[in-house]
Amino acid sequence: MIDDGKFSKSLTGAAGDAVKGKKTFANRKLGNCLACHINQDLADQPFHGEIGPALDGVAERYDEATLRAILIDSKKVLGEDTMMPSFYRLKNGFRTQKKFLGKTILNAEQVEDILAYIITLK
Ligand code: HEC
Repeated sequence: MIDDGKFSKSLTGAAGDAVKGKKTFANRKLGNCLACHINQDLADQPFHGEIGPALDGVAERYDEATLRAILIDSKKVLGEDTMMPSFYRLKNGFRTQKKFLGKTILNAEQVEDILAYIITLK
C-alpha cells in the first residue's frame, strides 16, 4: 500500500542488489530508465534521455520509502499526468503495450534491485 507517497516494506522481504539494479536500470528491455534519465555514474552509456530529471543526488531528495513508491506506482507520488511509467502496477493506462497487459513491467526483485542502486546516487 502506498500511504502518503511512501511504501516502506521491501517487495521481496529482502534488500535489493545494487550491482544488478544498475544493470536493470540501463537495460533497454527492462528498466530502460536511461531512456529518460541521465546520471553521472552511467555517463559512459549511449542514448541518454532528458525527458525526466537527472537522477544525480536523488537519494538526497527522497527517502527510500518514497523512491520505492515512485518505482511501484509513479502516478501516486508524482501525479496522474507524469510520463514516468509505473513499474509495478497492473494498470498502466491506455498506452500499455500489449505484452505488458496483466503484467507489471518489472518484477518485485528488479524493483528492489533498482531501488538499491538509486539510493546510492547521492
Ligand atoms: C518515459 C520516460 C521515463 C522513464 C522510462 C523513466 N522515468 Fe523516471 N521520471 C520521468 C519523468 C518525466 C519524471 C519527472 C516527474 C514528472 O515530471 O512527472 C521522472 C521522475 C523520476 C524520479 C523522481 C526524480 C526527482 O528528482 O524528482 C525518480 C526517482 C525516477 N524517475 C526514477 C526512474 C527509474 C529508476 C526508472 C527506471 C526503472 C525511470 N525513472 C524510468 C520519466 C521517466
